[in-house]
Amino acid sequence: MTDIERFITDMPKCELHVHLEGTLEPEMKFALAQRNQISLAHGSVAELRASYDFTDLPSFLGIYYDGMRVLLKELDFYDLTYAYLAKAASQNIRYAEMFFDPQAHTARGVSFDTVIRGIRRAQLDAETRLGVRTQLIMCFLRDWSAEFAMATLLEALPYKEWIIGVGLDSDEKNNPPIKFRDVFARAREERFLLTMHCDVDQENSTRHIRQCLDEIDVARIDHGVNVLEDPVLIEAVRSRAIGLTVCPISNGYVTDSTKSAEIAKFLELGIRVTVNSDDPAYFGAYLTENLLRVQEEVHLDRAALTQLVRNSFEIAWLPRRTKDAYLAELASYTA
Ligand code: HPA
Ligand code: ZN
Repeated sequence: MTDIERFITDMPKCELHVHLEGTLEPEMKFALAQRNQISLAHGSVAELRASYDFTDLPSFLGIYYDGMRVLLKELDFYDLTYAYLAKAASQNIRYAEMFFDPQAHTARGVSFDTVIRGIRRAQLDAETRLGVRTQLIMCFLRDWSAEFAMATLLEALPYKEWIIGVGLDSDEKNNPPIKFRDVFARAREERFLLTMHCDVDQENSTRHIRQCLDEIDVARIDHGVNVLEDPVLIEAVRSRAIGLTVCPISNGYVTDSTKSAEIAKFLELGIRVTVNSDDPAYFGAYLTENLLRVQEEVHLDRAALTQLVRNSFEIAWLPRRTKDAYLAELASYTA
């Protein structure tokens, strides 16, 4: 391992864009299928992995939703979450904000309570046993109706203390941010923090980013790489200190590149860009591998790599003093 690879590997890290359902490794998919007596289309882990040849967002999402069929019981959500957090701890991730997609489960007849209790119990166990602190972000599925999203928001209210914010994911085509204006306004009233996916190189990417900023007033944007196409958006994101949670290896699958050059450009512009994993079990790369890939492609030095991780702790949805403690840990690592 080179010095810079060692530097990345050992760094204390922060992950802000990871879908829990996207951490379902093929081995666990098989184990849960067996436990729940569900039959799978593929006969082996190798065959299943070989089917992961997505070329765009919809082709990824088809496989992603199919994977979730094995998640039925509270223990399944516990095992999924705990396994991700053990992996995160092994990569020196000190803090993570994790998305979950309740509608992908409630639509299959799995109760909201089952999903969130399993996740929550794993979060608490991982914090005490592994020292990884986490918070949850509930995503609405943008290819379903605003009414279903609103009903899900209301269903989540009794569990409000367990959810720091809300997001928006799934297929962006013809599903603009404003479709969910009322849902996000209500979420704001309920004191949830707000973020939304603006996936990379979508139809109307810049229009959707503008809606996020002007109509929804998000605190962060998930992905958001296309900000660079419009000087007005660049200035808005920079001056409002909006964080961008970029996912290079995910980009490499669903677009024409990892967008590492764009990440370097955001750093140059002083925009709070961060590197994240998105759906690590499907893209075969957790946070460390994503940082290594960007470094390899655009040759970031230690200062730039440190800035990426500093940005993550800065835009994390944590109290100031908690962020400062993590930033101090990072500073003492890099000193
Ligand atoms: N974009 C949209 N939907 C998703 C993603 C993503 O990156 N990951 C899981 N669902
Ligand atoms: Zn995502």
